[in-house]
Amino acid sequence: MTTSKAREETVLEAVRARRELVNEAIPEELPVQQPERLYEASRYLLDAGGKRLRPAVLLAAAEALADVEPLSTDYRSFPTLSGEEIDMMDAAVSVEVIQSFTLIHDDIMDDDDLRRGVPAVHREYDLETAILAGDTLYSKAFEIMLETGADPSRMVDALDVLATTCTKICEGQALDVTFEKRDNVAPEEYLEMVEQKTAVLYAASACLPAILQGADQETIDALYGYGLDIGRAFQIQDDVLDLTVPSDKLGKQRGSDLVEEKQTLITVHAREQGVDIEGLVDTEDVDAVTEAEIDDAVAELEKVGSIDYANETARDLVEQGKNRLSVLPDNEARELLCEIADYLIERSY
Ligand code: IPE
Ligand code: IPE
Ligand code: MG
Ligand code: MG
Ligand code: MG
Repeated sequence: MTTSKAREETVLEAVRARRELVNEAIPEELPVQQPERLYEASRYLLDAGGKRLRPAVLLAAAEALADVEPLSTDYRSFPTLSGEEIDMMDAAVSVEVIQSFTLIHDDIMDDDDLRRGVPAVHREYDLETAILAGDTLYSKAFEIMLETGADPSRMVDALDVLATTCTKICEGQALDVTFEKRDNVAPEEYLEMVEQKTAVLYAASACLPAILQGADQETIDALYGYGLDIGRAFQIQDDVLDLTVPSDKLGKQRGSDLVEEKQTLITVHAREQGVDIEGLVDTEDVDAVTEAEIDDAVAELEKVGSIDYANETARDLVEQGKNRLSVLPDNEARELLCEIADYLIERSY
C-alpha cells in the first residue's frame, strides 16, 4: 500500500519535473528587452521561484486528455485530438505569467514586503515599476497564449477564458479588499470571493488544454469545475498556512492576514463562535506582530474548531473536484490530477 509520504513524494516529483521545463521556457517566452528595468522587474518574481502548481495542472490535464504517458511527449509539439500539433508549453507559461502579475499587484494591495522569499517587486524596485511590471505581464500572457498555434476558433475560445479569468480575479480581489472593512461576512460569501480571486485561475489552467486540443464541452466543463473546486480548497489552505508556517519557510510574511484583517473561512467561523477577531492581534504593521502573538491567536482559533472547520471544508471540495475527472480517460495523468488536488491541501508551504 502506498503511504501518504510516498504519495507526496510522487506528486512533488511530478510537479518538480514540469516546473523545471516551465522554468526553462519562461526566459524564452519573456526575454529581458528594452526598457530593461521594466522587463527585469517583470521577470523578478518569475525568476525568484514559485511552485508552478497551475502550469503543472495544465500540463497534466493536457496529458490526461491526449492519453499519453506523462512526460513522454514534447510539450512544444503536443498532439491535439484532431491530429495537428500545438505548443502546450506556451499555454503553461501563459497561466504562470498571469499568476505572477496577480502576485505583484496583490502584494501592493496587501502591503506585503516578502514574496517567494525575496522582497516584493514594489519593495525591490518601486511602486510605479511594480504596477507597470504587473500590467506588462498581464498583456504578455495573451501574447504568449497566441503563440500556441492552435486552430483560430479554439484560440478565440482560449483567449476568452483567459480574459474572463483576469476580470474575475480583479472582481475577487476587489471583494477581498472590501471584506477587510466588514465583520459579518458569511462562509458562502468567502467561498464566492475565493472562487473569483484564486480558483478561476486553477479552473482556466485545467480547462485550457481541453479547449486548445478540441475536446467536447462536457470535458471542458468538468475540468473547469475541477479547477474551481481544488482552487477554492487551495486558497483555504493558503489561509491556514498564513497562520501556521514561519515566514522563512513560507517565503511570505506569517500572520499577514490577521494584521490586514482579512476575512478567511477560519476567521469567519471563529467570529460565529464568538471570538473577537479584531482583538486577536494588536497592530496594523506586519513587521511589528510577534510570533508569540500569532501563536496565541492560532491557539484561540484552534480552540473553537475554526482550523478544523477550514480543513474539512477544503477536504470536501477536493473530493468533489476529483470526482469530476471521471469524464477523462482512465490513465496515469488523470491519477496525477487527483494527487495534485490532494497535495494542494496537504502541502505545508
Ligand atoms: C499564491 O499562490 C497566491 C494565492 C492565490 C494564494 P501560490 O502559493 O501558488 O504561490 P507561488 O506561485 O507558488 O509563489
Ligand atoms: C491572493 O490571495 C490571491 C491572488 C489573486 C494573488 P492572498 O493575498 O491570500 O495571497 P498571498 O497569501 O499573498 O500569496
Ligand atoms: Mg496577499
Ligand atoms: Mg490578497
Ligand atoms: Mg494568503
